[in-house]
Amino acid sequence: MDKAEKKALYLSVGLLVFFMALIVYASKGLDIDLPTCVTDVRPFTEGKLIKHAEGRYELHIVAKMWLFDLDRGKQEIEIPAGSTVDIYLTSADVVHGMHINGTTVNLMAIPGTVNYARYKFTKLGVYHVVCHEFCGVGHHAMQAKIVVK
Ligand code: CUA
Repeated sequence: MDKAEKKALYLSVGLLVFFMALIVYASKGLDIDLPTCVTDVRPFTEGKLIKHAEGRYELHIVAKMWLFDLDRGKQEIEIPAGSTVDIYLTSADVVHGMHINGTTVNLMAIPGTVNYARYKFTKLGVYHVVCHEFCGVGHHAMQAKIVVK
């Protein structure tokens, strides 16, 4: 190994150690939590759309082979335009993915875990909820609809 190789190796190892130390310092020293969508909400078994106030909703989604339960078994819900929705997602069986087309909402549905995202639906239209993680023979058909009126 020549001198330049050694230098490059020491530099890369040094940088790795430096970045790891920064992460530990941010987490322990500054008490900064790493970003996560995982909550400590207890997993639920039924989808539910809850209206808290005008324009404020909470949506519990259960992903299961091979559908999304958005509200007591329904795979289509309506909400008024301009609504802010707190979305909680879990899975009743295997790992699924969930993307709401046309939005930034992209979560994994994991059994025993509840993931969270918040989205404000400003544009009118039909938002397709699709599974983006291969979950078995019905994966391609696993979808639901959020209609924003
Ligand atoms: Cu559920 Cu793919």
